[in-house]
Amino acid sequence: MADQLRRITLASRPQGDATTEHFALETSDIPEPGAGEALVAVDHFSLDPYMRGRMDDGPSYAEPVAVGATMGAQGVGRVIASRADGLSEGDVVTGMTGWASHAVLPAEQLTKVPDGVPPTAVLGVLGMPGFTGWFGLTEIGKPKAGETLVVGAATGPVGSMVGQLAKAYGLRTVAVAGGADKCEMAREVYGFDAAVDHRAYGSVSEMRKALDEAAPDGIDIYFENVGGKTLEAVLPLMNTFGRIPVCGMVAWYDGAGDVQTTMPALWRTLLVKRMAVQGFIIADHWDRFGAFQSDVAPRVNKGEIEWREDVAKGIESAPQAFLDMLKGGNTGKQIVAV
Ligand SMILES: NC(=O)c1ccc[n+]([C@@H]2O[C@H](COP(=O)([O-])OP(=O)(O)OC[C@H]3O[C@@H](n4cnc5c(N)ncnc54)[C@H](OP(=O)(O)O)[C@@H]3O)[C@@H](O)[C@H]2O)c1
Repeated sequence: MADQLRRITLASRPQGDATTEHFALETSDIPEPGAGEALVAVDHFSLDPYMRGRMDDGPSYAEPVAVGATMGAQGVGRVIASRADGLSEGDVVTGMTGWASHAVLPAEQLTKVPDGVPPTAVLGVLGMPGFTGWFGLTEIGKPKAGETLVVGAATGPVGSMVGQLAKAYGLRTVAVAGGADKCEMAREVYGFDAAVDHRAYGSVSEMRKALDEAAPDGIDIYFENVGGKTLEAVLPLMNTFGRIPVCGMVAWYDGAGDVQTTMPALWRTLLVKRMAVQGFIIADHWDRFGAFQSDVAPRVNKGEIEWREDVAKGIESAPQAFLDMLKGGNTGKQIVAV
């Protein structure tokens, strides 16, 4: 029905894996634009992994989609009616149209797609996903020629941007992709030096072996798009001073929403809270020890800093005290009174 607006709404929130039952197709009259608004006939809208998160109502960096509301998305289309200065019928524009055939949006929320740019490019390589790859790699990954980068979802818009930029910066690039065809695409189309098919390995250790062979000098940057088995396989292969831009973890989006205490939830927290992942070894920082002493010793002396000890009695108690401590059996600094 071309004269009706069609939209996909969130029918209910998934508990576990999402299914088609969680969506509904609804129709309604096409709205008229108000003052300062334009009516867009949407040609394309984007489906992005983040949308799965918006179906859940757990704490996140963005509001969830309300049950009954249109699923959100960036779209591109043509203005078919305008009451906004600067927008005319036929203009090709992009904005957050949602999963919908038409959208009325204020002019300030619509951007004209420049002449010569394929409209759908603004949903991918020249839009949010491409930008994400660029920013995450250059600002967080800090790539250096000669290093090795691994990225999952390597043939997607984020991963392919990351891989290609990294290659251009002189890195060895290793794709993780699902299936032989995508691996070939990663190598042939996006120029990855190697590609590992995560679906070809039944276990983390098998996949790690394949990655180890693909990255013989270790991994300096793991651009995290996927989590799951890939993350587990990659982590032990990271080089000293490696960087992990945590961009997404799509392996855990669907059906992992109710996991609160294990790896998916913890790893997701890094992203949602925009935390930096950087290890350190204190031995690298002895030059700061004097500064520490000057700052902290007076506070301890003044009682401003409390401290506790847990004293195990007898040297024979040391092994068990040690193992208990590893499981949290200590209260305060574990020491042994010989
Ligand atoms: N932080 C941000 O602001 C931001 C912005 C944009 C995107 N992102 C994130 O970036 C990532 C990539 O986004 P995209 O738009 O480029 O997606 P995409 O690559 O187009 O699609 C997601 C891909 O994830 C891969 N995948 C799914 N399950 C997997 C699993 N269990 N193990 C390994 N790979 C799996 C699949 O590729 P294969 O078939 O190759 O496995 C799938 O094609 C997502 O995590 C997304 O949420 C983050």
